[in-house]
Amino acid sequence: MSAIPALRASNLHRRFGDITALSDIYFDIPKGQVVSLVGPSGCGKSTLLRALLWLDPPDEGFVEVGGRFLGRELVGQGVVRHQSAAQVDRIRPKIGMVYQQLNLWPHMTVAENVVRPQMVVAGKPKTQALETANRLFDRLKISELAERRPAEISGGQKQRVAIARALAMEPDIMLFDEPTSALDPELVGDVLQLLRDFAENGMTMLVVTHELAFARDVASRLLFMDKGRIIADGSPRDVISSRANKRVSDFFDTVSAFHPSFRKSDPQKEIST
Ligand SMILES: Nc1ncnc2c1ncn2[C@@H]1O[C@H](COP(=O)(O)OP(=O)(O)OP(=O)(O)O)[C@@H](O)[C@H]1O
Ligand SMILES: [Mg+2]
Repeated sequence: MSAIPALRASNLHRRFGDITALSDIYFDIPKGQVVSLVGPSGCGKSTLLRALLWLDPPDEGFVEVGGRFLGRELVGQGVVRHQSAAQVDRIRPKIGMVYQQLNLWPHMTVAENVVRPQMVVAGKPKTQALETANRLFDRLKISELAERRPAEISGGQKQRVAIARALAMEPDIMLFDEPTSALDPELVGDVLQLLRDFAENGMTMLVVTHELAFARDVASRLLFMDKGRIIADGSPRDVISSRANKRVSDFFDTVSAFHPSFRKSDPQKEIST
């Protein structure tokens, strides 16, 4: 018997008019796996994350978090049931999401941004929510910012607050949508190091990224999307060095022109393994 995956997507489809944003999406993410999601602009990465959270429900298909359906359930032989909004709200916090635009509440302090959702969404008592927030602030090195408002902290600091807010809900899996793309170059390394630490601590993560060093060196699996489909799924090295799919090799050819360190393959390694 196989273990229950942290996240399962089955048969996801999503259309916007004539555009097929998601088609035939299937994958399981086992607990503790770090997966990067890579693909050209407009291929459907953000749509997929929003579908997984049931914020923008797919037209077809199922999402399961820790073995529980989210949004739409298969209750019997082909019988589909739609969950109530209250049910969705109960299950959704099992997935933590860090949005590219971060979505911090500007009128609240950093501490309130992290404490309030724990009380409102997870029903935690304030003392416990504060304790969790302080532990995360310590871990993310933002304790001294607790009483400031988002407008009074830097982009990199905001990123950490958004991560603390998501982690405070103790999710089974964390989704990140291009966590470094809004940051100044000198802050990118900081956030990547943070994600690397999370990975080493066994956190299950799905990370949309253009940071190919992360995709190659930190993630243990790479999903490559094109035109709404996952067209490659494997170890980063295998996917990157694969010549099997022209779309994938064209993408990495373009990228490696900008990132000279990002080589498609290492011939010596290939011979020795
Ligand atoms: N709400 C919407 N209405 C209509 N079309 C949409 C909507 N959201 C996304 N799309 C279209 O769906 C496709 C996938 O968009 P998506 O934002 O998921 O791409 P992406 O891979 O995240 O791109 P990027 O790397 O630029 O962030 C695009 O063609 C986009 O224009
Ligand atoms: Mg996107």
